Amino acid sequence: MLAVEEIEAFRAKGAEVDFGAFGENLVVEGFDLAHLPVGTRFQIGEVELELTQIGKECHSHCAIYKQVGDCIMPRKGVFTQVLRGGSIRVGDEMTMELPAADRPFTAAVITLSDKGFAGEREDKSGPLICEMLQEAGYRVVETILLPDEAAPLKKNLIRLTDQRQVDLILTTGGTGFSRRDITPEATTAVCDRMTPGIAEAIRGYSMTITPRAMLSRTVSGIRKGSLIVNLPGSPKAVKESLEFVLPSLEHGLGILRGTASECARK
Ligand code: MTE
Repeated sequence: MLAVEEIEAFRAKGAEVDFGAFGENLVVEGFDLAHLPVGTRFQIGEVELELTQIGKECHSHCAIYKQVGDCIMPRKGVFTQVLRGGSIRVGDEMTMELPAADRPFTAAVITLSDKGFAGEREDKSGPLICEMLQEAGYRVVETILLPDEAAPLKKNLIRLTDQRQVDLILTTGGTGFSRRDITPEATTAVCDRMTPGIAEAIRGYSMTITPRAMLSRTVSGIRKGSLIVNLPGSPKAVKESLEFVLPSLEHGLGILRGTASECARK
């Protein structure tokens, strides 16, 4: 979806673009689409849509970019999931409903493992994290398996925070001493503010189980509205770490979302 106001502002800069030139399916008027929260619902007659992503990566600059030196789609185009299909006609009215403040937190899980990525080892930690998150009431919206490399990790963290507005991102693996272990550095590089208490808590509690917990270099931090927490790689370490910190994360996520402020413990 693109807003007609954005297309017209782009035309005013000299771009000769017709409706549909960006590959958009719906051009709508009266909505500041790029500033809406993911989860916003749109109603057009019988059709119901849910906002899932703001903007998109521009892979190879298209003819519009080459002509104007800019393109609005990567920043202003938004993506929705069709919750209920039907017919839409030009001139139909669209209404919008913002997501409820008490909606479940969304989560994404990223496994960093060269062997897992190459298909040489089954990823048991990622699915275990998903299970624990779902049991705790989170909506897991993406699970990703990556090699131990900084660029794809940073790219996915930025996409999940900036475009998908995921509340909690948990990574597993790549936190040790191997030359290929880069998860903490890639995480730090994309964060606006670090939250050292969470990583300290994980290490502190884990040290009561195994002194080798000191060998994990996990970090955690905030980028925009998302909290990113590294966990070590083994399913045992994941279970031990998450069991301890997960109950306290919800309050922090509520503060980050702006729906929690009362810190007195019930
Ligand atoms: N933390 C907990 N709770 N339990 C564990 O068994 N293993 C440690 C540590 N943290 C462990 C743990 C070990 S042996 C290593 S090498 C580091 O996590 C780093 O793990 P990673 O490289 O798979 O991320």
